[in-house]
Amino acid sequence: MKCSNGKKVTVIGTGNVGSTVAFILAMNGTCHDVVLRGRNVDTAKGKALDMSQAANAGRQHTIVRAANGPEDISGSDIVVITAGAPRTPGMSRDDLLLKNAEIVKMYSQEIKKYAPDSIIIVVANPLDVMTYVALKMSGFPRERVLGMAGILDSARMAHFVFEVLGYGAGQIRATVMGGHGDTMVPLTKFTTVAGVPIDDLLDPEDIGKIVAKTKNGGAEIVGHLKTGSAYYAPAKSTAVMVESILKDTKQIHSCAVYLEGEYGANNIVSGVPVMMGADGVERIITEMVLKPRQKEKFKASVADVQGMVDKLYELNFFEEEAK
Ligand code: 2OP
Repeated sequence: MKCSNGKKVTVIGTGNVGSTVAFILAMNGTCHDVVLRGRNVDTAKGKALDMSQAANAGRQHTIVRAANGPEDISGSDIVVITAGAPRTPGMSRDDLLLKNAEIVKMYSQEIKKYAPDSIIIVVANPLDVMTYVALKMSGFPRERVLGMAGILDSARMAHFVFEVLGYGAGQIRATVMGGHGDTMVPLTKFTTVAGVPIDDLLDPEDIGKIVAKTKNGGAEIVGHLKTGSAYYAPAKSTAVMVESILKDTKQIHSCAVYLEGEYGANNIVSGVPVMMGADGVERIITEMVLKPRQKEKFKASVADVQGMVDKLYELNFFEEEAK
């Protein structure tokens, strides 16, 4: 069920992030078909109908459908994986890591079988590790497996710059590299307000606070919501990636990708500036010159993700890795 000339995006996971991604795509008319694939088909059907009707209200041509089974993802140009378990009481970080890795593995194998030419965007956490799992389990080339986090973390940083300055909202360009976690690397050197570096606008103490708030950006929202985590900004950031690919924009965004020597990291996923287009990751931008301290922080962030990947290897998780 794909229009002959249209683009099809499947969103796996019908929770807050998945639903909001699908809704943004439908409201913007980004593609002809959006497929919602969730464990509960009825929930997916209800949300899909609601969104298709919203698209009609907005005079958009996008149709949202629910997948009855894995075969309905076939023909997808992009598959977004948002499915993942939340951490529940008594569950260790490692338990969650393994549980979500199993979910991402199952869907990556499904994508390999039913949508072998698609581009995968991973949103499940821990983000960088799940992107690594999707890459290994789909067997896709690294150009076609990206993780969403840098756009979100950069947007959060931009907002916190605004909070301190009190002006410039929408004109602040922030850059965050590294993993999507406590060790992310907000880069003040590459953060500007209408082109002016924040180093020229703010004192080091304020900049330090902005960096700390950015790292804590997800947790702050969990603290307010109490029963869940953020979804509007994560979903919008994902939709930006979908649009860059479908519209072949060749624009640069920070994304989690598999690195083969770039920025000194090897055989691991981390967030770096990427040029996105119709082929997915069309170029990894390696021209950013980091200060020695930033290099150290990026290295530490990569080591943090490597630790989690190593844990999965210890648990023999990758034994059935795609050949
Ligand atoms: C966030 O940063 C949980 O990754 C999600 O809000």
